[in-house]
Amino acid sequence: MLAVSKITLNYEPGLCGVDAFPLVGWQIVSDRQNVYQQSWRLQCSTDTAFSQLHYDSGVVTDNASANITLPDIPLLPSTRYFLRVCISDNDGEQSRWSEAAEFVTGMLNAPWQADFISAETPENRHQSNGTLLRHTFRLADKAIAVAFVHVTALGLYHLYLNGQRVGNDELAPGWTSYKQHLLYQTWDVTAQLRQGKNAIGAEVGAGWFKGDMGFMRHRNFYGEQTALLCQLVVRYDDGTQQVIGSNDGWRTDASPIRFSELYDGEVYDARLVQDGWANTEFDDHGWRPASVVTFNRQALTAQGAGKVKAQETLLPQAIITTPQGDTVIDFGQNMSGWVAFCVNGQRGDRVVLRHFETLDAQGNVYLDNLRSAQQRIEYILSGDGEETYHPHFTFQGFRYVKVEQYPGRIEAENFKAIVLHSDMQQTGRFSCSHAGLNQLHHNILWGLKSNFVDVPTDCPQRDERLGWTGDAQIFCRTASYLMQTRNFFAKWLTDLKIDQTPEGGVPHVIPDILTGHCEADRFLSEGGTHSSSAWADAAVVIPWTLYLMYGDTRILETQYDSMKAWVDFMHAHADNHLWRYKLQFGDWVALDAAEGSYFGATPDALICTAWYAYSTGLFARAAAVLGRHDDAANYRALYQAIVQRFHSDFFTADGAMTARTQTAHILALYFNLVPDAWRQRTVDTLVELLAEQEGHLVTGFIGTPYFCHALSQNGRINEAWALLMKDDFPSWLYQINAGATTIWEHWDGIRPDGSMWSPDMNSFNHYAYGAVGEWLYRAVAGIDVDEAQPGFKHVIISPMPGGDVSFVDAGYQSVYGEIAVHWRRAGECIRLSVRIPANTTATLKLAAREIIVADGLVFTPHASHWCATTGSGAYQVEYLPADDKA
Ligand code: BGC
Repeated sequence: MLAVSKITLNYEPGLCGVDAFPLVGWQIVSDRQNVYQQSWRLQCSTDTAFSQLHYDSGVVTDNASANITLPDIPLLPSTRYFLRVCISDNDGEQSRWSEAAEFVTGMLNAPWQADFISAETPENRHQSNGTLLRHTFRLADKAIAVAFVHVTALGLYHLYLNGQRVGNDELAPGWTSYKQHLLYQTWDVTAQLRQGKNAIGAEVGAGWFKGDMGFMRHRNFYGEQTALLCQLVVRYDDGTQQVIGSNDGWRTDASPIRFSELYDGEVYDARLVQDGWANTEFDDHGWRPASVVTFNRQALTAQGAGKVKAQETLLPQAIITTPQGDTVIDFGQNMSGWVAFCVNGQRGDRVVLRHFETLDAQGNVYLDNLRSAQQRIEYILSGDGEETYHPHFTFQGFRYVKVEQYPGRIEAENFKAIVLHSDMQQTGRFSCSHAGLNQLHHNILWGLKSNFVDVPTDCPQRDERLGWTGDAQIFCRTASYLMQTRNFFAKWLTDLKIDQTPEGGVPHVIPDILTGHCEADRFLSEGGTHSSSAWADAAVVIPWTLYLMYGDTRILETQYDSMKAWVDFMHAHADNHLWRYKLQFGDWVALDAAEGSYFGATPDALICTAWYAYSTGLFARAAAVLGRHDDAANYRALYQAIVQRFHSDFFTADGAMTARTQTAHILALYFNLVPDAWRQRTVDTLVELLAEQEGHLVTGFIGTPYFCHALSQNGRINEAWALLMKDDFPSWLYQINAGATTIWEHWDGIRPDGSMWSPDMNSFNHYAYGAVGEWLYRAVAGIDVDEAQPGFKHVIISPMPGGDVSFVDAGYQSVYGEIAVHWRRAGECIRLSVRIPANTTATLKLAAREIIVADGLVFTPHASHWCATTGSGAYQVEYLPADDKA
């Protein structure tokens, strides 16, 4: 049996709203081993029966089943296309046609027959209330074949047709560098329309566009008025088309949302609800006309997938009364989203909720670490029977909710927490015999869910929630094991490129709202708002990581100039290959920092030069991948020169590192900046530095992600495992033992004595230290990419049993299908089961003394391991682990 099990379009199962023909990929299943695709055939049609073929590739003899760019196929705007694929394999077997995947085109080159319209004027710039816009229109009395709406806002919007919500996006159109990059969403609304009279309406809020943002609390970053842009395209059975666009004929009024801000929450007055306001019969003569707002239409880009949606529902785990007498609902999980509730009461009664992350040492409500973010919801009842509500244009980071007001008894059944994040397919799974490690994996995953809310944020709760480049870069590889992140990061990288300084400097946060708005912050106003080492390197590391994980060269193409500009920026500001620039965050929040300081002990010049080398080296490799040979050669030479300088400045003549910190040694080892002769000494010193802390790390953002790799890649697997398994302060498992459900910003967020790090900066939902997830997948489960055949076309399976863990069961959904690894100790032996997807190959690289069961694989011995290369299928191997490694 040979079948195409799943087609992907731009890595997604389907797309609604695209600007160009998507990249195509598919997954193959077969009941045989060593299956390779021999040929493929793809058809594209505008009907599900494939009777109106738009494109037929014919049989293409080729083994590629991912990242396929089809020749220029002309597309019509606002049109649905279906794709199907069939293949043959190396055994001559022929599959049937796959199920169809579909995509819908956006506006393409069709003109917008619509204006940005607003219910506001510039005088409303300080207001944060919602507004309503509505319009009625007539459709012809003939059968409607299909209708699509293309819509976006300056601000955030919900769209309605004939009283019904359109789509299920939240916080649309998300956060981008709007002036040059504004996403619009496309929906099929055929079922919501009827012949004759129809009504369209929108509710709009301030959001990132106009609202209050950043820890220095500015507003109006992108404009003073919210606005809506909307174009409805209706196609009739007879082939004619009608377009309805937003214009100044629309009517506007105030919404029941009296206030809505991302950090502060929402005030909703249900007494102000105008029943049927988005229906045809509604009488809007008391409403005001909308005004037209000008905005750069060149910025408009279709968003086919990856939008923020309600993803999960959590129920209250407990309702507690704190020692101070507050009523608190515990949802059992730190998260991002809302509380939805039901309530009965009198007109004018209120529900008031405060959202927060943790109780203090006494078990009381702890709001201090939210800083100025109010995270407050106020709902004013209409008094009309049972009322249900969830917020609209805000989200909160919380596990706990303090109920400040609620008419009647507070019953668990009336509350639920709705988890919001960008829509991405989960690709990673990991479980093992150790409950603490399973919880760690869970917490890393929830750090991702909580912080991938349209942009990769540092944290979801306090007055920050910004796209800090360093955090995103550090976590990117882990995130890309856990979820299909390609489109999420590609969107954000577009903004990174837009927001780079003319010289190629990379802002600390993307979208950049710090530049020009940080007079109140001494560090930033003196040190600048761009180009801190390891933060700015997001420009290079993230595209490269996406290339490795998905085999996607398109992202390298689109980001190439941005990557190059960043490396050139460092070069322009380096002094004979030693790089150090203005404000550096260094080994941020490391424990070897001076008391109360955020800056770890590793010198900036060392960190900066290490990263300069690393990014330059990666860029040279990216240039080679794209066949830009001159760049590849030039930047390789530059890379070598930087490495030389690193050797001479950061090693003494007898091979000691000049900085005796864990992070200095980790960077030198993981980035391969150690002269061969001194590698052993560097590894030994790192182990000594660990022993000096009784096996604990004291590393910050820079050293932590690579700590376990630096050890395990240098023959110190036992030390790497010991570090991971530490469970007293400071360690990953210490947080777990302290009850964490997400990853903390500080190792000492809550200290063993119950005291907390200063509320100035103490998030309990920061994903950066969750970067150890990469080690769980790449080393513990041993599912690693081969740079020569990226996207897991060839996978290296090299598990690393250790740490008294008796089994690991893990999987990664690559673009070719799931790579599964299960290992289990059986007496002296390791029993390993692996599953390799069709049309890929694997090398099993086992730290083994002896292979006991080979399952038909041919293993060859190497200095420290045994290797076998194979094609797809399931294999069960048994081996005796090498003495010192397990
Ligand atoms: C953020 C960090 C960020 C850092 C940079 C903090 O406020 O929360 O995660 O990377 O600033 O210094």
